[in-house]
Amino acid sequence: MSQSFLKKALEGYHPYIPGEQPPDGEDWVKLNTNESPLPPSPKVIEAIAAAAGESLRLYPSPTAAPARHAIAEHFGLDANQVALGNGGDELIEMCFRAFAGAGDRVAYSTPTYPLLDPLCRVHEVTPSTHPTAEGWTWTPDFVDDPAPLKFLVNPNSPTGTHHGRMSVERVLARSSGVVVLDEAYVDFAPESQLELLGRHPNLLILRTMSKSYALAGMRIGFALGHPQLISDLDAVKDSYNLNRLAIVAATTAIEDEEHHQKIVRHVVAERAWLEDQLREEGFEHSASAANFAFVKPPLGASAAAVADALRERRVLIRHYDREPIAGWFRITIGTRTQHERLLTALREIL
Ligand SMILES: Cc1ncc(COP(=O)(O)O)c(C=O)c1O
Repeated sequence: MSQSFLKKALEGYHPYIPGEQPPDGEDWVKLNTNESPLPPSPKVIEAIAAAAGESLRLYPSPTAAPARHAIAEHFGLDANQVALGNGGDELIEMCFRAFAGAGDRVAYSTPTYPLLDPLCRVHEVTPSTHPTAEGWTWTPDFVDDPAPLKFLVNPNSPTGTHHGRMSVERVLARSSGVVVLDEAYVDFAPESQLELLGRHPNLLILRTMSKSYALAGMRIGFALGHPQLISDLDAVKDSYNLNRLAIVAATTAIEDEEHHQKIVRHVVAERAWLEDQLREEGFEHSASAANFAFVKPPLGASAAAVADALRERRVLIRHYDREPIAGWFRITIGTRTQHERLLTALREIL
């Protein structure tokens, strides 16, 4: 084996492994990475095409200023309450850079977004993990954890669980550090916690354009919070973290609320339909407020074997093999045609 120059703190490190991306143009039913089943707004595609010209010679706005202003206006905030990231993932990483130093603790409830574990290793912080209670709910230990940085993923992935306002406020009231509320999936849920921003200077809300704006390929995330938290994030960001095309896409997408709502309505309606169908096939199901269903095949079926058999039929979903979610599937909400192919394949396999 060749010599490793990786820093000592990363010995035995397991990086985050993104879901499989099959080659473009092949006939896959891709329900494994929570992308949008519908395309982006035609206005966004036009705006990107118009921006793909000579000006690419120049660096973009370092603060993604046009997008920052458009997003602030959309949410009724000031521009100094908005930060942009190269996807929500970069904003999560920026939170580690800004708010958790080597040796600090970072608190989160498990199971949750698997990016957090590797980020703890990279930043040499100690994960303060709290297994969820019955119904994937947050425990009092987690609520009271005094870590300088705490993540709430709401709705959560992969469970789809959504905690309401009272639960979120309880965490905020009991937390002394920064509370990052990752609302990547909130557009598909009954409520967001935007209204809490004015009351809690330690609250940072993260959003992404990868799901409900159908722009996963453009890498756009944004954070909303108190101007102090926003300037802390900006202080640690890469100089030009959004490229010119992403800035144009973000600005145009946030202004096309009609298209955004069309995607949300589709996903919410199809989620209900798919969950019903899977229940009829004998699947156990856990209520999901996100753009995926969280389900477990009927007793006796091995999740890994079912996922492999689906893959042979060019249907990709996510399955889990570690407790407490061993045997569960996370299935992204797709189109009706994709769902029918999934169900046909499942009927053959089961
Ligand atoms: C919980 C959660 N947060 C954040 C993200 C970040 O998404 P992106 O980096 O595509 O904006 C994801 C993506 O799947 C996610 O599941």
